[in-house]
Amino acid sequence: KKYKMLLLISLLGKIILLFCFSQISLICCFFFLLYSTDEWKKRWVESKHRPDYGKFQLTAGKFYGDQEKDKGLQTSEDAKFYALSTRFKPFSNENETLVVQFSVKHEQGIDCGGGYVKLFPATLNQEDMHSESEYYIMFGPDICGFGNNKVQVILHYQGKYHENNKTIKCRINKDTHLYTLIIRPNATYEVKIDNQQVATGELEDDWQFLPPRKIKDPYARKPRKWDERLQIEDPEDKKPEDWEDFEYIPDPEAKKPDDWNEAMDGEWEGPLIPNLKYKGQWKPRIIDNPNYQGEWIHPEIDNPKYKPDPTICHYYNISVLGLDLWQVKSGSIFDNFLLTNDEEFAEEVGNKTWGIRKDIEKQWRELYEEMEKRKQEEEAKKRKEEEEEREDDIWGLEKEENEEDPEEEPGNSDRQKDEL
Ligand SMILES: *[C@@H]1O[C@H](CO)[C@@H](O)[C@H](O)[C@H]1NC(C)=O
Ligand SMILES: *[C@@H]1O[C@H](CO)[C@@H](O)[C@H](O)[C@H]1NC(C)=O
Ligand SMILES: *[C@@H]1O[C@H](CO)[C@@H](O)[C@H](O)[C@H]1NC(C)=O
Ligand SMILES: *[C@@H]1O[C@H](CO)[C@@H](O)[C@H](O)[C@H]1NC(C)=O
Ligand SMILES: *[C@@H]1O[C@H](CO)[C@@H](O)[C@H](O)[C@H]1NC(C)=O
Repeated sequence: KKYKMLLLISLLGKIILLFCFSQISLICCFFFLLYSTDEWKKRWVESKHRPDYGKFQLTAGKFYGDQEKDKGLQTSEDAKFYALSTRFKPFSNENETLVVQFSVKHEQGIDCGGGYVKLFPATLNQEDMHSESEYYIMFGPDICGFGNNKVQVILHYQGKYHENNKTIKCRINKDTHLYTLIIRPNATYEVKIDNQQVATGELEDDWQFLPPRKIKDPYARKPRKWDERLQIEDPEDKKPEDWEDFEYIPDPEAKKPDDWNEAMDGEWEGPLIPNLKYKGQWKPRIIDNPNYQGEWIHPEIDNPKYKPDPTICHYYNISVLGLDLWQVKSGSIFDNFLLTNDEEFAEEVGNKTWGIRKDIEKQWRELYEEMEKRKQEEEAKKRKEEEEEREDDIWGLEKEENEEDPEEEPGNSDRQKDEL
């Protein structure tokens, strides 16, 4: 039996929101015993904003490291919007580090869909949560089509959403991956995938929250005589006197015909023949420009419009974590949600959940894929044999049972597998 739990613990002054982390302590074990399978449904609210949101189910999926501990929330219907959220005691990250961490497994082989979480203010009405509901942070993989697989880090600032300028690629294989976002009080950030840093820097540099610190000096002009030519023709180089630059010359052997009448025929011109001494067009040699001054760089000045803001990404009353997604092919499993102010603790939680089970999961995944491949090959073989039989059966005496059965079409083999 499995349950997901959500605890907010004030531990040594640290705010920790903990979810599905059974190793943690006696308190957790206690809840562990109390909760029934459907307990997660009490902690998560399904939005009713649209009547047709897709359903989540609790499962470890088709392959996993541990069938119990790897159970998570899985999107279960194709081509659906999803809107599910859970509330906790409001907190602020003012002067505190904020770590947002979760794991997601796109075991379906995701083609187009979100794999991210959102953090909302306490004012969110969960029953009416939808894609336009105001949020603070959106974080996690977002995949749609070839090459379009990035980690979104969208941060709310002064009424606007700001996307990360630095592109971070996400992992698109079928294994579980751990995503971590760290926002520090000194306005630096870090994104980790599988506990490995993939991006880091200053918030101000990688999001366009503020006008740039420096701008080009509007009064600076490139001096007219600035020499940007890397190479020039050598002014010392002169064409040699004997340089032959006529490609054709009059044939010296040709003679004006005796009966040529200039009055009637015009001036006589002998035929041209190729000049054997022709050397081509003369060009001076190219040398490095001794006066080269380099590329002119527009001098910069402090931007008068820039004002530093030490409160960037300070959020108040952070109180809801939501899964607000669109998925074409469903099957993503979300798990191990964690909000904390302790980077090291988050890493440790990652190690003790995703970290200790990833290798077993990978082995199972490979085995699973091998079995799937074999099953498909066998099915294809069977279909071919049946077709051949039908071709032999010219009198149509045998029944053609399976011809219209959509389950037999290759496109549906996935669904078939799921049912098995
Ligand atoms: C955060 O730090 C600023 C500057 O040091 C201080 O004025 C403010 O009171 C602090 N806020 C909290 C909640 O500690
Ligand atoms: C910000 O804080 C982190 C962790 O405390 C530290 O490693 C980093 O050097 C700091 N960066 C700046 C620019 O102050
Ligand atoms: C972010 O990207 C936009 C568009 O490419 C660019 O105009 C802007 O200067 C960038 N901002 C930062 C802070 O690098
Ligand atoms: C947080 O919520 C409380 C209770 O609703 C409210 O009194 C307070 O003003 C909110 N704080 C901020 C910074 O929005
Ligand atoms: C997490 O695991 C990695 C790799 O085994 C190890 O280097 C790191 O120290 C661990 N971190 C924590 C906080 O336990």
